[in-house]
Amino acid sequence: MTKLLEGKVAVVTGGTSGIGRGIVERFVAEGAKVVIADIRDEGAAIARDLGDAAAYTHTDVTDEGSVRDSISFAVKQFGRLDVMVNNAGAQGDPSSILEADADGFDRTVALLARSVLLGHKYSAAQFIEQGSKGSIVSTGSAASLQGGWSTVGYTAAKHAVVGLVRQAAAELGPHGIRSNAIAPGIIMTPIMSRTFGVEDARSEEFIEFLAARLGPSQPSLRVGYPADVAAVAAFLASDLSEYVSGAVIPVDGGATSVTLGTFASDVVAAAGEFSAG
Ligand SMILES: NC(=O)c1ccc[n+]([C@@H]2O[C@H](COP(=O)([O-])OP(=O)(O)OC[C@H]3O[C@@H](n4cnc5c(N)ncnc54)[C@H](O)[C@@H]3O)[C@@H](O)[C@H]2O)c1
Repeated sequence: MTKLLEGKVAVVTGGTSGIGRGIVERFVAEGAKVVIADIRDEGAAIARDLGDAAAYTHTDVTDEGSVRDSISFAVKQFGRLDVMVNNAGAQGDPSSILEADADGFDRTVALLARSVLLGHKYSAAQFIEQGSKGSIVSTGSAASLQGGWSTVGYTAAKHAVVGLVRQAAAELGPHGIRSNAIAPGIIMTPIMSRTFGVEDARSEEFIEFLAARLGPSQPSLRVGYPADVAAVAAFLASDLSEYVSGAVIPVDGGATSVTLGTFASDVVAAAGEFSAG
């Protein structure tokens, strides 16, 4: 049977770790050639382990020239481009609204939203130049859909990803280019340890602890893993989703579909109190 992404060439930003690494591995398993574009050069060894199907290029998604070069690298390495995955990210500035740091906010938006615009700009130019269709997949977040999941810079930037994807569906659709976002919920990746300052050596232990602690309160009774996100990225990258553009798909086990907190039990408790008079 033909593999889902046979013959396709993809660039995955942030492909060295977590969700991006999961996407790289899934895409290669589905027959794609993949460029890992990351600021962490461990990506070179990851690409080597994947053999001829993968290559690494040092990329800083906050730098326009660097994003442009990652696309040129893919074309030089594998001859064309079919899929762009804008996934690189980090927590960014931790300030609250009352303590907002304007420069920190700008840096967070540059990392999480402007990078997605640049990924669209240079991948779309390549698709048009080669006269082909293309699929752009961007990693948003549950914080693209709701407040309260993170800090204001992260939440605002991830909401901006939704705007970018919808605008891209409108502007780039006539060129045969699709753009969609994935909105992951709680996914067990090193971003967790990086955000909370847990040293690399204890990252796995911390992730296991969080998974056990947070899983039972999720609608799905478990947390998510990079493979959960990678499966949806593979679908959006593939021709199976040929008529899907401008979509934002939550990959959160249902978390953004329910009211956070204890709404239902609050009502039950209040009704009990009322009846007890
Ligand atoms: N893990 C979660 O729960 C979760 C939930 C929702 C959204 N996300 C989003 O998923 C994406 C991936 O996060 P993750 O959880 O896999 O984190 P991660 O820390 O495991 O991986 C992020 C990757 O991005 C790279 N990166 C960071 N800054 C970069 C830059 N300037 N240029 C190039 N590469 C850079 C890092 O080196 C790393 O390889 C991010 O956009 C994040 O906001 C994660």
